[in-house]
Amino acid sequence: MLGITGGIAAYKAAELARLLVKGGAEVQVVMTAAARQFIAPLTLQAITGRPVRDTLFDPQHEAAMGHIELARWAEAIVVAPATADFMAQAAHGMAPDLLATLCLATEAPLLLAPAMNQAMWRNAATRTNTETLRARGVSLVGPAAGEQACGDIGPGRMIEPAEVLQALSDMLSGDSLAGRRVLLTAGPTREAIDPVRFLGNRSSGKMGFALARALVGQGADVTLVSGPVALETPDRVRRVDVETALQMRSAVFDALPGADIFIACAAVADFRPGQAAASKIKKTQEVMTLTLVRNPDILTEVAASSPRPFCVGFAAETDDVEAYADAKRRSKGIDMIAANRVGESLAFEADDNALLVLWEGGRRELAMQSKSSLATALVALITERFDAQTAT
Ligand SMILES: Cc1cc2nc3c(=O)[nH]c(=O)nc-3n(C[C@H](O)[C@H](O)[C@H](O)COP(=O)(O)O)c2cc1C
Repeated sequence: MLGITGGIAAYKAAELARLLVKGGAEVQVVMTAAARQFIAPLTLQAITGRPVRDTLFDPQHEAAMGHIELARWAEAIVVAPATADFMAQAAHGMAPDLLATLCLATEAPLLLAPAMNQAMWRNAATRTNTETLRARGVSLVGPAAGEQACGDIGPGRMIEPAEVLQALSDMLSGDSLAGRRVLLTAGPTREAIDPVRFLGNRSSGKMGFALARALVGQGADVTLVSGPVALETPDRVRRVDVETALQMRSAVFDALPGADIFIACAAVADFRPGQAAASKIKKTQEVMTLTLVRNPDILTEVAASSPRPFCVGFAAETDDVEAYADAKRRSKGIDMIAANRVGESLAFEADDNALLVLWEGGRRELAMQSKSSLATALVALITERFDAQTAT
């Protein structure tokens, strides 16, 4: 949740919203009445794809995602810019509007980027409020010193959006996988029929990329072997691009030595044309036959290697999900399988997903949610099982 309060620096919140969205976050903007004097809600709505919330007494929203649900929904709240007035409210537990109420009602971590005139920042009241907030575990980033909009020079400028983003990611990241090497695959493969055509599938790579981001956030050293996708590489992730299943296999085995965890999230083609035509196939016959040969099963091979990483697979099933997924886990000899129901609009290409995760003697259902929060939950579960296995 991005809170925007009424200061000149409110224009910087638009850039922060853009960076958050680009980084894979779902962003709900909440503005104070004063903030609307500085920046139009429509700008933020266009950037985040969600209508801005600014009213506490809103019967329509109270019937759907009301203020308490919104407070629970947020995994983190960033208020940028944070006015002297907002900091005073927060320090005193006041809740006169939607943003202040959410900050009081949430259990999510709170990050403030103060911005105000240097005299307001130096004022004893603001100093005390700042100390009170820090003592309660609220994080503050900035302000920076320099020339101000009002012509004064001194501390009070809002820190740049990229630095707020860095502070947020530092605040949210953990170190549960520090020192661990994780290798994962994502996306589809393409199996050439001729120089211009291929057999492919609907995998978008979103789940694998969200996992890579969540793994890095827990301090892991991540190598991501990706099929052709239209996604940006998450920060600090080593990416190896491949096209075919055979290329994916060799990239995986190149990166495998020393890996602690292997996550096979890619939708690898089971079959490929036995022989790709050297030149474009012409439209001369009515019926055309392609002979397909089996591709290697990368996950099964990794699970059979020695020494072997903790292996996690994915299963996309249309029905009888649990039975098929558990059979797949056993036959591949892997440690954990994350199963999802596919068909209709579920899973492939979608932004939301739900998973049923199975391991020897255990299961956990991860409810329908965005792929980025699902990735966070799955990484926590993988870490838990990996730690339990390495402890024995
Ligand atoms: C042009 C202008 C610029 C302002 N800039 C700031 C500012 O940068 N920081 C601040 O704390 N207050 C600033 N204020 C005062 C706040 O807008 C005022 O305290 C308001 O009540 C804050 O409401 P809010 O905290 O609910 O957003 C400014 C006021 C005006 C008229």
